[in-house]
Amino acid sequence: MQSNLNESTPIVTMISYGRQHIDEDDIQAVVDCLRSNTLTQGPKVAEFEQTIAHYVNARFAVAVSSGTAALHMAALAAGANASNALLTSPITFVATSNAAVYAGATPLFADIDPHTLNISPATVAKELAKHPNIRVISPVHFAGLPCDMVAIKKIADGANAVIVEDAAHALGSRYPDGSFVGNCQHSLMTVFSFHPVKSITTGEGGLITTNDEAIYRKLLRLRSHGINKESDTFLAPENAETDGIPNPWYHEMQEIGFHYRITDIQCALGISQMKKLDSFVARRRALAMRYDAAFQDSKLIQPAQNRGRDISAHHLYPVRIDFAAAGTTRAAFMTKLHRRGVTAQVHYIPVTMQPFYQKRGCVNADYPKANAYYDQALSLPIYMDLTNEEQDSVIALLLELLG
Ligand SMILES: Cc1ncc(COP(=O)(O)O)c(C=O)c1O
Repeated sequence: MQSNLNESTPIVTMISYGRQHIDEDDIQAVVDCLRSNTLTQGPKVAEFEQTIAHYVNARFAVAVSSGTAALHMAALAAGANASNALLTSPITFVATSNAAVYAGATPLFADIDPHTLNISPATVAKELAKHPNIRVISPVHFAGLPCDMVAIKKIADGANAVIVEDAAHALGSRYPDGSFVGNCQHSLMTVFSFHPVKSITTGEGGLITTNDEAIYRKLLRLRSHGINKESDTFLAPENAETDGIPNPWYHEMQEIGFHYRITDIQCALGISQMKKLDSFVARRRALAMRYDAAFQDSKLIQPAQNRGRDISAHHLYPVRIDFAAAGTTRAAFMTKLHRRGVTAQVHYIPVTMQPFYQKRGCVNADYPKANAYYDQALSLPIYMDLTNEEQDSVIALLLELLG
């Protein structure tokens, strides 16, 4: 296996595009869980779910092993299947559209708005007109900037489609009305990820919020093998009791599900992290503002999103760099950054360019805005523990290398 970055490159102290913030309280929370009786399927899972549901103001939350698992379950619960399609953005992590493939549905893509890098309501409407079998729309709140959900919901309602928001980047982001992403006011479900570079972390982990009780119950089943333990919905209630006494062991596998459970150890970390979410988002926002100010006079480097700076959780800080005008290439530029201790990243290669999706007939040229962004894209370091001094050194290095 070979990385594209030169392995012989001397490593200085690395500043990466993203990383977690873990403090002593987080460590203690995990240690306390390890000393408790319950490592999984215990009280910390429900407490974590309630903490997030309460924070975003949703009725229900189901925590799972990853954002990808959450997207898979959400696609199934939303009704994605072999007879229909799921529409999302080409500028996302492959997990969003892979969820369609897992469910047997056709993955489809709508081009982005070049100012937000989010799926554009106009292209969503265009794709829905072309493909009346779109059942699920998955807007991705790219880098933490919420999509125009009011417009997208209106279009979805008119086309009998349901919405699963991919908010992997957007825990702590707000809609323009000030309410939190995840409240499902504009969607059937919202999906979060807790990978270490995200707003908060559980190591690996994901979560779905919804206000729909039937969906909530379906998600609980899908998370654990399709097993239902709620006595009010047993399909064979006669097996659930003996002479009027409930059979305490009884449960029913009612459909095919998965083992997508998250542990109490992870949820203990998540609960502790949630106490700091507001400060994490505030710090990311301050760093984004500092970058914005530093690049405002540059012709070669510009923030790639120039809307909603005060409502985004700033999971990423994506810029557009005119590498050609700077007399370089992105590969050469990233290698130079790496040699000087800064690991930038590219989010994302358009999913429609991936060989798997090409083989399924995706025509990458159909998404010119996504491709134009990709050609110039770079994500700069942004995370809680990035100091002003470190950020200043990153800015100085970028401006130096761009001449
Ligand atoms: C937009 C988006 N969706 C989904 C995922 C999948 O989340 P996870 O890594 O927790 O499975 C990611 C992860 O990076 C993501 O960025």
